[in-house]
Amino acid sequence: MMQAVRLNGVNDLVVASVAEPIPAADEVVVRLRAAALNHRDVWIKSGQYAGLKWPAVPGSDGAGVVEATGPAVNSDWLGRDVIVNPSFGWGADERAQGRDFSILGLPRDGTLAEKIAVPVSQVAAKPSHLSWEESAALPLAGLTAWRALFSRAQLRAGERVLVSGIGGGVALFALQFALAAGAEVWVTSSAPEKIARAVAMGAKGGFDYRTAGWAADALKVTGGFDVIVDSAGGAGFEQLIDAAATGGRIVFFGATRGNPPVLPMRKVFWRQLTLLGTTMGSPADWAAMVDFVAKHQVKPVVSATFPIAQAGDAFALMERGEQFGKIVVTMAG
Ligand SMILES: NC(=O)c1ccc[n+]([C@@H]2O[C@H](COP(=O)([O-])OP(=O)(O)OC[C@H]3O[C@@H](n4cnc5c(N)ncnc54)[C@H](OP(=O)(O)O)[C@@H]3O)[C@@H](O)[C@H]2O)c1
Repeated sequence: MMQAVRLNGVNDLVVASVAEPIPAADEVVVRLRAAALNHRDVWIKSGQYAGLKWPAVPGSDGAGVVEATGPAVNSDWLGRDVIVNPSFGWGADERAQGRDFSILGLPRDGTLAEKIAVPVSQVAAKPSHLSWEESAALPLAGLTAWRALFSRAQLRAGERVLVSGIGGGVALFALQFALAAGAEVWVTSSAPEKIARAVAMGAKGGFDYRTAGWAADALKVTGGFDVIVDSAGGAGFEQLIDAAATGGRIVFFGATRGNPPVLPMRKVFWRQLTLLGTTMGSPADWAAMVDFVAKHQVKPVVSATFPIAQAGDAFALMERGEQFGKIVVTMAG
């Protein structure tokens, strides 16, 4: 038996003893050293996610050591330090995922457990410059930020970028990746201290998205943004349209604040704006992201770390939105 975070129903989270995974022919069993939360896990816990099933072991991010191999997997994998790609079954089309696409941690049991079985094609070598906690923080958010900025928005060096809600896990990777790619990066946040931390990391400056008229100020100060990365949506989305430079691209992968109540179409077409949706990433995006992180020695920002026995506190922190970066859960041993 092993320890795992188990959701027995809506907001019914326990740390329980569950059966250990047995690898299928093409799978490896990874003894996880650390896992990380994504907002998806909070949506699942609160019953606000498609395809819910109970009980469920959530968690899309993990890093650990290969402990067992299925019969079709080369035993050279045993003992290797790996990270897990949570984007399963993307398919052959780079433009979008196919019908078999799924995300680790629902419907399949996830990484908030001492062990996980995954196809060997889903693991990659752990980046050697990262700790276990930093490695576990990387996969889902790094992949999403990578595809948003580079595969979808086609970010180029020298462009001006705005990343909204900089406390978020994906948002911080977007900041780090865009800086490493030679962009000028600005941020928004509800917390002045999070803006200050982003500036200390290399952002040019920031705006409080709760202040009425912040977008007009941003336009005045910066001249507008070539690329805007958002996952909040909601009523604030119109301000992002206002803050875009002529010909700008707004790329989004979440709707934490729901749908925008209006879409000001005239502003979008007259100013030649492009609205881009994105989700997770393909195997090619994954490989490129892992290479980029190694080349630029990007270090994920870990906001807080909890032992698995206190996983409920990790969820509560994300529910309060107080984090700056990723929330990590560590396993004993
Ligand atoms: N489609 C995909 O592939 C994909 C992948 C990853 C995430 N997502 C979605 O993207 C969203 C973020 O995920 P995450 O894991 O990065 O979440 P997270 O770490 O919980 O990020 C939450 C952050 O959202 C920001 N925020 C809240 N309300 C905002 C608003 N009105 N305007 C701007 N920012 C606001 C806050 O930033 P401040 O604290 O700075 O104010 C908060 O720190 C979620 O909805 C998630 O489901 C989708």
